[in-house]
Amino acid sequence: MINIKVAVIADIHGNPVALREILKDAQKENVDEYVFLGDLVNDFPFGNETLEIVKSISNDVLKGNKEQYLIEYDDAKYEWPNIQFKNTKYMYNELSKENLEYIKTLPMSMYKEYDGVRILFAHGAPESVEVQIHPEDSDLIDKYTRELDADALIFGHTHDKMWKDVVNNKLIVNAGCAGVSPYYIGGAEYVVLNIENGKLDVEFKVVNYDVEALKNKIRECGILEHDTVLMNLTVLGIDGHGKERYSFFREAKSRMLERNGKWYQDDAEGIFKYFKLFDDDIWLDVAAKFKDIFSF
Ligand SMILES: [Fe+2]
Repeated sequence: MINIKVAVIADIHGNPVALREILKDAQKENVDEYVFLGDLVNDFPFGNETLEIVKSISNDVLKGNKEQYLIEYDDAKYEWPNIQFKNTKYMYNELSKENLEYIKTLPMSMYKEYDGVRILFAHGAPESVEVQIHPEDSDLIDKYTRELDADALIFGHTHDKMWKDVVNNKLIVNAGCAGVSPYYIGGAEYVVLNIENGKLDVEFKVVNYDVEALKNKIRECGILEHDTVLMNLTVLGIDGHGKERYSFFREAKSRMLERNGKWYQDDAEGIFKYFKLFDDDIWLDVAAKFKDIFSF
């Protein structure tokens, strides 16, 4: 009888406090192997610490769009002119040379086989770190399950609550979000795959971590000398202020629309296709309105 347990961890976003709690829980579960689905680094500033943990326990690691942005910045493909990029720039500057080279080696999808069960892992979608597959996207789900040369497709990226479905006889699973899940206060999501006698069973797990400990790490690390706004917005997402975080972006977006008549450049490339740019004055103006609920 073969029994393999695999922990699938998506979207840590530089939060080693959450990651350590997941690993403790996974050890209790007697997990044999770990698969990481990208967005290991950013938006929290502990990219090196996160990568050291990840590298020490697994070779099954994918890149996400966050790694892709850092790689493209390193290739000098794009400038990051706005204040909203200061957080990402900080991470780029902090990342060790070795870790920067490491993220360049990561694939965006990967097939694995466990006791005859073949799984395709991806960050966003098999051919893209940016495509988002939400549970209501029935056309996309139909397309990816129809094309799938495996028994299951498992991905992350959207930060939706973990979900699974069977479509076209294929299992499709979103592994949720480990480091910045907006659905829990200090809750880290991950998935345990239990493969027993050639049969795959999926278990959704949520473990708690110490949000205050994470905030203290942020205060101590030096990021706040470079960026406070995005750091605060990221914290709002995990400390129960997800709605306010959403209001920030909604207001900044409507101010941009008022000013330009449209929201972003249609011909934007690379990172800017997905990462919409806010003018600095609007970004800071809206931030000032939210300062009472900001942590820093
Ligand atoms: Fe992502």
